[in-house]
Amino acid sequence: MMSNDKVLVQVRNLSVNYHTRLGPVSAVNDVSFDIYRGEILGLVGESGCGKSTLGKALMRMIMPPAKISSGAIIFDGEDVMKFDQKRLRDFRGRRISMIFQDPMTSLNPVQRVDEHLIEAIQVHEPKTVLENAQERVRTLIGRLGIQERRLRDYPHQLSGGMRQRVMIGLGLILNADLIIADEATTSLDVIVEAKLVDQLREIREEFGLAILVITHNIALVAEIADRIAVMYAGQIVELGDITNIFDNPLHPYTIGLLSSVPSIKLDDHEELYKMSGEPPNLTHPPSGCRFHPRCPEAMPLCSRFCPNMEEVVPGRWVHCWLYQDHPQKERSTIKVKA
Ligand SMILES: Nc1ncnc2c1ncn2[C@@H]1O[C@H](COP(=O)(O)OP(=O)(O)OP(=O)(O)O)[C@@H](O)[C@H]1O
Ligand SMILES: [Mg+2]
Repeated sequence: MMSNDKVLVQVRNLSVNYHTRLGPVSAVNDVSFDIYRGEILGLVGESGCGKSTLGKALMRMIMPPAKISSGAIIFDGEDVMKFDQKRLRDFRGRRISMIFQDPMTSLNPVQRVDEHLIEAIQVHEPKTVLENAQERVRTLIGRLGIQERRLRDYPHQLSGGMRQRVMIGLGLILNADLIIADEATTSLDVIVEAKLVDQLREIREEFGLAILVITHNIALVAEIADRIAVMYAGQIVELGDITNIFDNPLHPYTIGLLSSVPSIKLDDHEELYKMSGEPPNLTHPPSGCRFHPRCPEAMPLCSRFCPNMEEVVPGRWVHCWLYQDHPQKERSTIKVKA
C-alpha cells in the first residue's frame, strides 16, 4: 500500500476480538487499509460484519469485553496504539471524531448547543479566550446551516438532522482530520438524510477533512464516497475507487452485494451471484477465506488458506484467491483484469 503524504491513516493487520462466555468473537480480523487525506471512504457490509468495531478501533474506543488483539494504527505518522490516556483524549477530540446513529447518546442532555462546542474548544485549547471561542462557534454554526438562536437550545429541542449537524460541528470546531460517521444518517427521513449527505460533501470540500462513512446503505455510498471498502465477516474483502468497483467488482462477495442493489446493474453476473446462506457466526468463523462457504467460485484451497489483501490492479485491493497465486492453485486460473 502506498505510504506518502497523501495517506492520513494506515491500518495494518488489525484484529479485534470480543471476549464472551462462548469464546472470542473475531469481529475484525487482520484488516489492512489506508485512509487518504480529504477523501470520503465508504465502509459497507452486512449487519454484524464488524464495521462499527473497526470504526471504534480507529479511535481506540474499544472497551471490554472487546480488545484490540494485534495490529497497528498509524495516524498522520504517529502510532495510535502507543498513546497514553491523556494523549488519547486529546487525539479523540482534536484529530478524529465519531458520529453515531443516535446523537443523543453523545450529546449531554443538560448542556446547550453552544456549551457543547465551547467546552470542546476549552478542553482542547485551554488558552482560548471565551469571546474568541464564542465567535468561532457562531461562525461554524452558520456554515452548518444552524440558526444562531438554536445555540441556546438543549439537544432534545433539535430535530434529528440538526443534532447530527451539531455532532459534525464538534469535529469541525477543532479542525479534526477525520470524521467517522457510523450510520449517522440511518435514522433520518430521506429528505433530511439527503441534506445531511450534501452537507457532508460540502464540508469535505470546505474543510478538506477525510470522512469515513460507515453504512449498510450502498446507494448512499454511491452518492457520496470517493472510494469504498467492502467488509465481510470481520475482513475487508475489496477496496478501491467507487466507480471502478461499481463497474467491475472483483471479489465474489462484492459482486453479490452489488447485484442485490436494484439501482446498480451488473448484467454479467445477475444470475450467477444470487448469494445463498447466512453470514457466519464470528465465534467460529469459517477456515481459510471466511466467504468460502457462500462463494460461487470457491476452490479447494479457499477453505484451507486465507488470502492476502493484494493490490491486483493499481489502486484496487482484493482479498481473494481468484486473483492471487498459491502453490496449490493452477497459475492459469488467476483472473487479473485491468
Ligand atoms: N458487546 C459485544 N459482545 C460480543 N460480541 C459483540 C459485541 N458487540 C458486537 N459483537 C459482535 O461483533 C461483530 C461485529 O459487530 P459490529 O457491531 O462491529 O458490526 P456492524 O457491522 O457494525 O453491524 P451493524 O451493521 O448491525 O451496525 C458481530 O458479530 C457482533 O455480534
Ligand atoms: Mg454498526
